[in-house]
Formats: sequence, structure tokens, C-alpha cells
Amino acid sequence: MNYRHAFHAGNFADVFKHSILLGLLESMKGKQGAFCYFDTHAGRGRYDLRGEEATRTREYAGGVQRLLSVTRLPSVLHVYVNLVRALNNGQTNELAVYPGSPLLASLVLRAQDRGILCELQEDEAAALKAVFRGDARFAVHQRDGYEALKALTPPAQKRGIVLIDPPFEAQTAEFVQIEEALAAALARWPKAVYAVWYPIKLRQHIVPFHRWLIERSGASRVLAAELLLHPDNSALRLNGCGMVILNAPWKFEKQLEELLPVLRETLAQSRYGAQRLEWLRNE
Ligand SMILES: C[S@@+](CC[C@H](N)C(=O)[O-])C[C@H]1O[C@@H](n2cnc3c(N)ncnc32)[C@H](O)[C@@H]1O
Repeated sequence: MNYRHAFHAGNFADVFKHSILLGLLESMKGKQGAFCYFDTHAGRGRYDLRGEEATRTREYAGGVQRLLSVTRLPSVLHVYVNLVRALNNGQTNELAVYPGSPLLASLVLRAQDRGILCELQEDEAAALKAVFRGDARFAVHQRDGYEALKALTPPAQKRGIVLIDPPFEAQTAEFVQIEEALAAALARWPKAVYAVWYPIKLRQHIVPFHRWLIERSGASRVLAAELLLHPDNSALRLNGCGMVILNAPWKFEKQLEELLPVLRETLAQSRYGAQRLEWLRNE
């Protein structure tokens, strides 16, 4: 495996994914009862934006850095920006660190909530363990996140959110793995919210996955949100990305209706940007 998220930390895809994730986590906090946050592909938790990888690509400059100068933001983006700002000690002219999904989650989880974090690569998992040393709410596992999702669910807390955020090195084959993992997880833990991030290059790569969600997943409420910075007609670059949310919280689409246009405008790379928000199933 060659993938290293440090090259991409804080880019437009992270902004999209992490702001939606924060919205989902906030919606879980509407009830007092504990919930479990399950991150199947957790990464290293904290990214050094002054390190070699991030300075080589500077992808964060077209992502999180752009949001910092926007004055009026929907509430979920406001929360996100404030968390990033706080991690950088309020210093935002040039960011030094960026939080990955598990670190962001840890900043909003309550004392009664729990987290299960899986990361397969040894050095990434070691870094993740170091970030979470001393936080008893979280268990960090160096193991395959798909297999762990099957083995470790349902957790003691009945409510929960699963984030599935693979590197997609296997390209379209990754969707097949996701479908298998979702089918097994839904059978064991049907009420959890599942958020699956995916890259968009060619539209035809996504169509079979959406069809599976509609026709075969068995999930009754499936919301799909997408952000495109370029038309979805080239296999050679990341034109955009999407998130499907199974068992989407009540009225969550309203939050996305507010969020997506701001992301499209702020993160634009060309005049061909677009957003999509669609219920694949809503029963
Ligand atoms: C896109 S990154 C995750 C980023 C992280 N979710 C975030 O938002 O900050 C994907 C991560 O999955 C890890 N990975 C790849 N295959 C995996 C597997 N089968 N199980 C668990 N982790 C895996 C990679 O090493 C990489 O760190």
C-alpha cells in the first residue's frame, strides 16, 4: 500500500468529509445516551502541514485554508473551522496542523461516548495510538477496518456512527469491499448511521455502487451528497467526491442544503463546480 493521507490532509475532500462528519456527530448528541464512533480507516489522526508530504502538495491551501477567511459560515462549518483554529492555537495565516477524522471526533464526543479506530498501516497506526494515548474513551486497533467492523459490532452502546473512508487504491474494486462490509454490518448493527466517502473521477464508476445501495443494501434511508470541482468525465484526476449516508438522521438533508453551496463556492477550482444532494432511498 502506497497511500499516505499526509499528502492530502486538509484538501477539499477532507473539508467536505469532515464537515459532514461533524454534522452527523452533533446530531447524535441530541440524545443523552452514549453512542459509539467507529472509524474503519482512521489514518494517523493528526497531520503536520509543515512536514515534507503536505508542503510538497500544499493541497490544504485549496481546502481548509480557504475557509478560514470566510466570515459567514453555516453552523457546522463554523464548528469545523473553530476546531481547526483551536488546534493551531488561533494561528491561521498559515496552518501548522490538521486534524484527521478521529481527532475531530474526539474533540466533540462526550465523556459517555466511545470510539473504535482502525488503521492497517503500522506507522500510521503507531502515530494514531500516540495521539490517543491517555484518552480512555478510544480503542485504537492496527487491523483491517472492514474485518474489524464485522468482528466488533454491535458495540455496547446501541447508537453509533461508522465512517468508512478507504484510500481507494483498489479503484472500483473498493466499492465491492464496501458493499460486502456494509451488508455484514447492517445485519449486525442495523440502526447505526453509516457514512461512506468516495472519490469521483468518472461518473460510471459510481453508478453500480449507488444501484447496489438502492436495490440491494436493504437500508431504508440513504442520502447521497456530492461536491464536484470539475466535470465527472475524466479518469485522470479527482474531480470531486461524495458521501453516502445510510440511516441518515432526521432532517439531515437540511444541513447539507446549507453546507454544499458554501463548499462549492469557497473551494471552487473552475467554473464547472457543482453539488448534488439526493435521496437514493427514503422510506
Ligand atoms: C483516506 S485515509 C483516512 C483518513 C481519515 N479517515 C481522515 O479523515 O482523517 C485512508 C487510511 O486507510 C488506511 N487503510 C488502508 N486500507 C485499510 C484497511 N483495510 N483497514 C484499515 N485501514 C486501512 C490507510 O493506511 C490510510 O491511512
